[in-house]
Amino acid sequence: MRRLIPALVVSLAVLWLPTSWGETVHLDEPGLWERISSYHGVPSASSDGVRVGGVRLARGVTACAPNTLVVGLHGEARRFEAKVGLRDVTSPAVVRFRVWRERELVWESADIVSNTPPTSVSVDLTGARYMTLEMTASRAFYTGWGVWADATLEMNPGKRPTDVAGLSRQLGILTPPPAKAPRINAASVFGVRPGNPVFYRVPVTGEGPLSIEVVGLEKAPGLTFDPNTRRLGGAVARPGDYPLAFRAKNAYGTAEKGFVLKVGDRLALTPPLGWNSWNAFATAIDGEKVRRTAARMESLGLVDHGWAYLTIDDGWQVKAKGTTPADRRAADGTVRSNGRFGDMKALADAVHAHGLKFGIYSSPGPTTCGGYEGSWLHEFQDARTYAQWGVDYLKYDYCSYGQVAYGEGLDRDICPYALMSRALASSGRDIVHSLCQQGRGNVAEWGASIGGHCWRTTPDRFDFWADVVSIMDCHAALWRHAGPGGWNDPDMMLVGKTVWGVRSGFGGTRLTPNEQYTHVSIWAITCAPMMIGCDLEDLDGFTLSLLTNDEVLEVNQDALGAAAAPIDDDGEIRIWAKPMADGSVAAALVNLSPLETEGRFCFVRNGLTGAWRVRDVWRQRELGTFERCFRASVPGHATTLVRLWPVGSAGLAAGLSDVRDNYWRRRIEAHRPLEGDKNFKASSATDCECVHQQRKEQ
Ligand code: GLA
Repeated sequence: MRRLIPALVVSLAVLWLPTSWGETVHLDEPGLWERISSYHGVPSASSDGVRVGGVRLARGVTACAPNTLVVGLHGEARRFEAKVGLRDVTSPAVVRFRVWRERELVWESADIVSNTPPTSVSVDLTGARYMTLEMTASRAFYTGWGVWADATLEMNPGKRPTDVAGLSRQLGILTPPPAKAPRINAASVFGVRPGNPVFYRVPVTGEGPLSIEVVGLEKAPGLTFDPNTRRLGGAVARPGDYPLAFRAKNAYGTAEKGFVLKVGDRLALTPPLGWNSWNAFATAIDGEKVRRTAARMESLGLVDHGWAYLTIDDGWQVKAKGTTPADRRAADGTVRSNGRFGDMKALADAVHAHGLKFGIYSSPGPTTCGGYEGSWLHEFQDARTYAQWGVDYLKYDYCSYGQVAYGEGLDRDICPYALMSRALASSGRDIVHSLCQQGRGNVAEWGASIGGHCWRTTPDRFDFWADVVSIMDCHAALWRHAGPGGWNDPDMMLVGKTVWGVRSGFGGTRLTPNEQYTHVSIWAITCAPMMIGCDLEDLDGFTLSLLTNDEVLEVNQDALGAAAAPIDDDGEIRIWAKPMADGSVAAALVNLSPLETEGRFCFVRNGLTGAWRVRDVWRQRELGTFERCFRASVPGHATTLVRLWPVGSAGLAAGLSDVRDNYWRRRIEAHRPLEGDKNFKASSATDCECVHQQRKEQ
């Protein structure tokens, strides 16, 4: 017996050890840390040493604050341990670290300054489905390189953490395959100035051969239509609205769509749709890539889905450094392109030949952000030159203007843009003016009034979920400034392969497929100018499907031009909605949680009465009729985009003007809950109980 007891203890211990010891996983292992949302620099991981506050630690993940990282634990983690601090670099900084156990803050550091020895963190994670690691930078220093050093997760035996994509099912391609019957994808309005050349290609999809006709052409004297190029051309001298219709026919059917050519002083009546070179190539753009991209936009069918602009961003002028003024401008002051672009008129013609409008980039300062020749003191001359070349769009980027600006407010922020608007308006060509100054001076409030057609609202965006969320937060209050002729611009899109993205993963971007659905849905429903930012010669099918969903683009291109407002929250589901020209409502149920979540768009709370027919916009599928609310299970970080049509006597509650009215109620309620406003308030729990009649399949 005496000998038996120790043997029993040993064998019990052997049985017990594997289950209790668990596994140690290092945060710097591939697959865990790459999706850190780090705005100012590329995060990195090292397993052979990192120095923090003069101490050398074995390994770590380094990222520029502010940043966040979501790690999927699936209830299988026990503990997180790390040492935190700032990487030893010369520039001083202050960073604060936080650990969130799902939505609960479980650990927070003090403000840690450079050259402080590492601080230890140890957090119990039992049962947590995910955790978020966060670094914030002190305002005074703006950024700082923080390190999660020797960071480990203790997991249950045989279990591993995942990145955020592993926390929820990921959506695949939802866009249905292209239909064979014709579909006219044009917005139903287009604005041109009296007497200026009209350049408009009718976007139509469907199997060829397709014949396209314009009905009512004779009512617009001077307007021409070439059925081969599908282009409206000529010029219309007399201001006014010219109602036309497009008719497309092929072996599978006929499509017809009403269209109004509005000849007046307003351009960009719907948000510009196009491609911009910056996110795809940065300054490594050249004329050959422009030509090839234009051809790709046509051959991929993007032009037929309504993508109408191709814009060359920074890098086409002559670089200021190492050149003389005579290298940068001709004797008469005409701006020159650099050797990579050659004759700009020929390049514009080549782009136009693919049915695309041609865009260009400059700065009100002496140089562009990349150090190329800007338009300072040459504004009217440059606008005239652009018009001669055939430019249709100008992105005008603040860059070095701060060096030559004087004063504050009006002089600093508004004048350079007002001046270029005047120059473009008198150039003799319709040139859309895109103000790019990262939201300075509350540009959304005055951009349209000084002749801007869209205005960047934030600094540059990268392919991080945190960037998509911060765009939503920023645009939450800006929607009321957008409308026909002037749009809030949240920056170029980050789906597909960009110069910033990772080369592996979902089409080349760090965004998960679900996050990409949210990205595109939000750009669409907030009426953002949508500028594709990826390399179209290296495009995967998933990314193409995101860009060619005609019903999604229709939400963006609706003639009413109403940008969505965030009207309600249901837990972590945020509901954005907007009215559409045909009386329907477009709504996005955005899941801010990384976990699949059920969300309800509650009709009574939001001033909708009666029953509504609901259509899934991405899947282009009818979902049935809903009363009281529409309910959907939304995968982590994804968005369900729907359109709702009132059935019978359904509509908005008496006295409401549109579905966005609830935005104001929410803001008031945030401070003081309202009682008894019948238009909105759910009077009982059953008001949010959905009644759903499935559509009978025909
Ligand atoms: C700024 C703009 C970008 C891009 C670059 C070009 O950063 O915000 O969109 O145009 O300049 O240098």
